[in-house]
Order: sequence, then C-alpha cells, then structure tokens
Amino acid sequence: MLGSGGREHALCWKLAQSAAVAENGGKLYAAPGNPGMAECAQLVALDAKNHAAVVAFCEEHAIGLVVIGPEAPLVDGLADSLRAADVPVFGPSQAAAQLEGSKNFTKALCDRAGIPTAGYVHCTSLAQAKAALTTFAPPFVLKADGLAAGKGVVIAESEEHAVEALEDMFDGAFGQAGAEVVIEEFMAGEEASFFALTDGDTVIPFGTAQDHKRVGDGDTGPNTGGMGAYSPARVLTEDLVAETLERIVFPTVRQMRQDGTPYVGVLYAGLMLTDEGAKLVEYNCRFGDPECQVLMMRLQSDLAEYMLACASGTLAKLPEPTFAEDTAMTVVMAANGYPATPEKGGTIDLDDAEGQGAKVFHAGTALKDGQLVANGGRVLNVTASGADTKAAQKAAYAAVGKIDFPSGFYRSDIGWREIAREG
Ligand code: AMP
Ligand code: GLY
Repeated sequence: MLGSGGREHALCWKLAQSAAVAENGGKLYAAPGNPGMAECAQLVALDAKNHAAVVAFCEEHAIGLVVIGPEAPLVDGLADSLRAADVPVFGPSQAAAQLEGSKNFTKALCDRAGIPTAGYVHCTSLAQAKAALTTFAPPFVLKADGLAAGKGVVIAESEEHAVEALEDMFDGAFGQAGAEVVIEEFMAGEEASFFALTDGDTVIPFGTAQDHKRVGDGDTGPNTGGMGAYSPARVLTEDLVAETLERIVFPTVRQMRQDGTPYVGVLYAGLMLTDEGAKLVEYNCRFGDPECQVLMMRLQSDLAEYMLACASGTLAKLPEPTFAEDTAMTVVMAANGYPATPEKGGTIDLDDAEGQGAKVFHAGTALKDGQLVANGGRVLNVTASGADTKAAQKAAYAAVGKIDFPSGFYRSDIGWREIAREG
C-alpha cells in the first residue's frame, strides 16, 4: 500500500481482513503509512517518487500486489514503472490517470464519447480566457488544467471576480497546473460520488457516497478535501446508477480502451444530479478521501480479490461485490487552522473511541515520544455504521465525543441533507 492518509488506512484495514491476502502469506507493507496503519501493516520508508526504489523493494519482497492510494504517484507514472517490472498493480497508467491529471483531457474525451458534462472552453492564454468569459453566464466555473490538490477550481459570481481569478491562475497561483485553464458552464444540482472498478474492459460498480467539502457547519466557509462523508448516497437511485453506468462510465472505459490507454483501477466519477439527469463534474483516478473510509466500512467482499482481478484483467470472473445495507458515516477531525495552515503537534488521546464499534482511521497523525500527535490538516476519520444515516451519525459522533484532541475541530452536521430527507 502506497500512501499515508485515511483512505490508505481504510484500504489497509480492509486488505488485512482478506482471505486472498492470508493465502499469500498475509504480509502487508505500507509506505510510508501512518501510526494507525501500523496495526495492520509493516511501515516502510519508501519515497513514491523514486520509482527504482519502489520497484526494487517489490522485487526483493516478492510483492504480489501494489495498491497506489493517492493520485500524484499515478499521474507520475508509478504504475507504469511497476508494470514494466512485472509487479501487479492496482491503479491506472500515467496515460490513463490523465482522467484526473488534466481537466482538458477529460473534457475532450467526453466530447469524443458523447458523455454528458458541462460545456467548456480550453484556454492557453489569459487573453483567450478573458474573451471566452463573454460566452458564459455567471456564475463562472474556472479550472486550472492540472493537479492542484483539489484547490484548482474557482467559482466566480461576477465577471470581475472571474477575471481576477484567471489572472491569478495564469500568474502561477496553482503553479504549472494553471498554465492552461478550462472555463465551464455552471451546473446546478446536488453532487454525489460514484465508484467503479475496472480492469480496462469489465466494469463493476463499487458503491456510492456523498461528502461535505466546506469546512464549516451548514456547508459554509472555504473548500477542503472533505470534512466527512456517508455511503450509500441514496440520491443515486437505482435508475440514476444505471444511467451513470450507461451514459458516463461504460463509454469512458470503452473510449480509453479504444484510445490504447486502458484504464485499470478505481474510477471515481464526481456527478452533478441536474434537471437533465446525471452529468460528470470530474473524474478522479483513485478512491475518494474520506469517501473510501465509508465504502470500506460497508464492503463485505474480499477487497484484495477484486483489486487483484483488476490488476490481472480477470474482473469478469467475479460476481458483483456485496456491501452492507447499513449506512456508514465518517467524521473528519481536523487540526485548528485547516484548510489554511493547520496546527501541527497537538496531542490526541483516542481513549476507547472504537469501543462502540466505530473505527478511527488515521489521516494525519504521527508518534512523538510515544504520544499520538496531529501531523496534517485532516487528522482522524471517525467512522461508524447504523441502520440509517441518523443512526450512523449518532454512532460516529459518540465515538468523536470520546476523543481528546484539544487543538482539533470537526463539523457537527455531517449527513444533514440525507437526515433531513429521512425525516
Ligand atoms: P472539481 O475539482 O472539478 O471536482 O471541482 C470542484 C468542485 O467545484 C466540485 O465538487 C463542484 O462542487 C464544483 N464544480 C466544478 N465544476 C462545476 C460545474 N461545471 N458546475 C458547478 N459546480 C462545479
Ligand atoms: N473527497 C474528495 C476527493 O477525494 O477528491
């Protein structure tokens, strides 16, 4: 397992329960991992940017499967380096990871495959972008083309604001990611996340979730990587899931294969549920964080078996995976200052937060002289299940209440929209 966040802890935790892993010696390594992952994997200091070192480690330890958690190493081509050395890997090639790595790549693919998404203009200069603005109505959706750690999207209410944001982007506010910009039509609706596994050919739906991106209660304040999530996303009805597969996911996987860049791994479709049906907002080439944590809480099938089947092109042989009917919820505990400048080093006492059946995934923790401390923006993902969203929320917050993290904070309303619908 490569990565060190809550998503990777959840994946590791699930892999540790796998019969397929046990049959192959039961050994899990996490690089670099985190203190929470140490309960299920041996932590190793490996730099994912050093492909030769990762390959050498895998060869030396006869690694049967590498799971790449975050997007950066995928966009950097680590999966290619591993495949070139015959190491089985769960995760797309560099070319296929462009689905997340370049907004323009995905928009152009949607055009070719007829996938419903917002209309757009791809701009390579400030002058061109300013001129293109006149063809859109506010609010303006402006996106730096490349990876920008989830921060490359600006929604500007006025033209004046939009021009300022474009000037910042072309001025290097998002580094190289902003050298090209995509301007999009604004889509109104509710957002939901849809996950599918694929070996490049066969596609298997792998759950739904919704997250809360804003830092504050009532979905207010700046955007974050996600302050909490729940699964399933009941707004994605069976009909909408079928429509998403038919109109968005299948055509994408087919087009990628036809283009000679088959997509292998998990495909995460960010959807907007508009009056005209589900439309694609964006693709991610990895599991959502913290959406993965709630998916893993509900997954009943053997995760390793499915990941190995993706890696070896044998997904067609497996049945659809099963997920618990329950709702799972995760509440993110973040360090004060997040998302701007999170305070590092604050002490954490988990007490018996897991005593009631909750699971605490570590997202940004470190051990300092034996004491667990905060070491990132999002620090803990407190995850629990219940018969419905309300019950899951109660269980998750009961566990949050046991945790002593004086320099941290959390949202107190994760799942509010769904709970209002449950009535
Ligand atoms: P992205 O990184 O492309 O997912 O964009 C981040 C967030 O911006 C999304 O989760 C949406 O909330 C919002 N967003 C992006 N594109 C659009 C769009 N075309 N219309 C409305 N909202 C959007
Ligand atoms: N939680 C949003 C993401 O992983 O992109």
